[in-house]
Amino acid sequence: MRMYDLIYDKKMGRALSREQIAFWIRGVTDGSIPDEQSAAMLMAICWRGMNTAETLDLTLAMRDSGSRIDLSSVPGLKVDKHSTGGVGDKTTLILGPIVAACGKASGLSCAMFSGRGLGHTGGTVDKFASIPGLNVELSPQAFLESLARTGFANSAQTPDICPADRKLYALRDITATVESIPLITASIMSKKLAGGADALVLDVKCGSGAFMKTREDARALARSMVDVGRAHRLRIKALVTRMDEPLGWAIGNALELVESLEILRGQHPESDLARMSFRLAAEMLLLGGAAQTLDESLATVSASIQDGTAWRALVDFVALNGGDPEVLARPDRLPRSAHHVEIRSPQVGFIQAMDSRALGILAMELGAGRRFLGDTLDLGAGIRVHHPVGSHLREGDVVFTVFTSRPERVVPGAFLETLRIAPEALQPQPWLLETVE
Ligand code: URA
Repeated sequence: MRMYDLIYDKKMGRALSREQIAFWIRGVTDGSIPDEQSAAMLMAICWRGMNTAETLDLTLAMRDSGSRIDLSSVPGLKVDKHSTGGVGDKTTLILGPIVAACGKASGLSCAMFSGRGLGHTGGTVDKFASIPGLNVELSPQAFLESLARTGFANSAQTPDICPADRKLYALRDITATVESIPLITASIMSKKLAGGADALVLDVKCGSGAFMKTREDARALARSMVDVGRAHRLRIKALVTRMDEPLGWAIGNALELVESLEILRGQHPESDLARMSFRLAAEMLLLGGAAQTLDESLATVSASIQDGTAWRALVDFVALNGGDPEVLARPDRLPRSAHHVEIRSPQVGFIQAMDSRALGILAMELGAGRRFLGDTLDLGAGIRVHHPVGSHLREGDVVFTVFTSRPERVVPGAFLETLRIAPEALQPQPWLLETVE
């Protein structure tokens, strides 16, 4: 078999066989296929697409390029959640402890491997790393112990999981080939299948801050991932959610942790962030068999916030994994950049739109995110968004507070450009667009 012929077949729009796909991914993993050829193949897939069988074969070949996690020593079902990536998305920090608390009675636990932030989107691992001492790179044994003892485990993915994805993702990042439904499906689902959970809830983001800009594309991605999961007898459901503005008031690692702690304490229960986190948690409980109906599941979630069991599950998880649980009740002890700069509205009007991608990039430039994988983070840097889309502003109202160690680099105009302010308010949009199962 020659890689040249595979690229040619895909360029001409032909479907690749399982053997061809396995040959490519084996070559990516052992380094025998040069990056130039993989880059050409990735671009051909972007243009020509892949059918369901090819997407499934690519997912499996990528899953089998490395190790798989065996969670079977922990009794009961394990449920996972994955988001396709957004700005200010801290739902994992909230729903992990909720699922741990609510799943206990039926033996359901929440097993998640998370990523580090890259580009305009943050990563759960970095947000958890704001807790002093917390081990965010658990060994397989520590991961299983956390799952068994606290009902929740979250760790950075180890390098032996899906090495082919790591290589291909790095190539996609520099060849403008990230936004492809089969490539995103295979990248995400290979890692999820290797992670060993029995059930998976997907949060597919749609809008200006997401990979999928239109509802049609987001729906197609959700369908593709659900189909791949189903083919592997995974219990799976996707929620398509709006990512046209940052989720919640915080962008940046420690700030996002503070906001998550507020939600777990029962604050802002009507916010999109709380509603989305609670719904995702409820769907996880349903898929994992810990509830029979969505209403029952939502009521259980709500009770775990009211009675403090979700909070205690977080405390247990942090304490077991080396973190300082005291800081959870004392957020002033979390990392915080030395300076803050207030950005004020130059005009009166309603916020009609907020460019979440641009805000994510600004937060990255403050040190809250990485331009390249090896970059060091400033965990205390970030942006507080004071008013969501739809709010009325007076001239001089503070719209953003920017937390930074380099205040001289903050250009207020760059922040104000992310807003569209106009005399009329637009109809508010729901956070949940549709579900796919
Ligand atoms: N997240 C991933 O892990 N892979 C993609 O391709 C896109 C988002």
